[in-house]
Amino acid sequence: MSEFAAKLIAWHADHGRHDLPWQHTQDPYRVWLSEIMLQQTQVDTVIPYYLRFLEHFPTVASLAAAPQDAVLALWAGLGYYARARNLHRAAQAVMNEHAGVFPQTAAALAELPGIGRSTAAAIASFCFGERAAILDGNVKRVLCRHFGIEGFPGERAVEQRLWALAESLLPDAGIAIYPQAQMDLGATICTRSKPRCLHCPVSETCVARRTGQEAALPMARPKKAVPQRSCGMLLIEAGGALLLEQRPAAGIWGGLYSLPEMAEGESAPQAALRRLGLALTGFQEQAGLRHSFSHFTLDITPWRVELAQLPAAAHDPALRWVSRDELATVGLPAPIRKLLER
Ligand code: ADE
Repeated sequence: MSEFAAKLIAWHADHGRHDLPWQHTQDPYRVWLSEIMLQQTQVDTVIPYYLRFLEHFPTVASLAAAPQDAVLALWAGLGYYARARNLHRAAQAVMNEHAGVFPQTAAALAELPGIGRSTAAAIASFCFGERAAILDGNVKRVLCRHFGIEGFPGERAVEQRLWALAESLLPDAGIAIYPQAQMDLGATICTRSKPRCLHCPVSETCVARRTGQEAALPMARPKKAVPQRSCGMLLIEAGGALLLEQRPAAGIWGGLYSLPEMAEGESAPQAALRRLGLALTGFQEQAGLRHSFSHFTLDITPWRVELAQLPAAAHDPALRWVSRDELATVGLPAPIRKLLER
């Protein structure tokens, strides 16, 4: 058997968890219920819910016969309520399609609502001794670190590699212990932050530990490429005042004063100046400025425009001539203020 599995099984005897209420039973109903509750919820939170649920619904038949509201009421506070609805539907499927007896293979269990590949494997190995690999979040973390697997584990190719690896490591004996050993190692030693490597049974062969990548593995979800927009802005000065334009209430910088903008795609300011009712004099492109919003980056190209004389009052109520002194009192977006200050 793999050295990895052998070491985890040996470690579990002394250091694993042995007193959780869903251990020491091979009743697939109880094991299934615990695995579903534990999918997105910590052990300490699950325990009282698990015990209360079993008091109300001690068998799969009693669960299947209950009204959905009664099931949801016992789930209230655990979150992810689709789990409870699927649980109820799966109990009914066991009653109606399997004559009240849980399927006994991982493949057949995975056909039931709410039971994914890893949960099916956990139930099948705990209850029926099937050699089936689990791969939940904890196990992914342990494998990525120990075997130095790069890439985001939620990505299909990486996940497939992890499944193949998890299967190749399965022990020949101790299959009912091995999944629990992996879960316990992930939950108590190979934790997301500050792993306790000094207590880890497989630290000597751990790639992340050897290469100092404990914090970097597993790799985070790649950041989505943010769209990039560009926009020309006009620095129009005349008689010591600067022309500002109030932004529409909706959208970025809503209601703030900003520099008058050129329309998307315009590569010179003539059209924008016409829209502002200003006679064209000279203009000059300035160094650009990049600003990052959460959902896009904006490349601002400022154009300096000088007018021979201060025009009559701005015809558009959104436009306002502001002196250098007044500028401090106007609500300006931070990147615009930065641009004006340089
Ligand atoms: N998380 C998922 N399954 C678990 C189990 N059987 N014991 C502890 N934590 C778990």
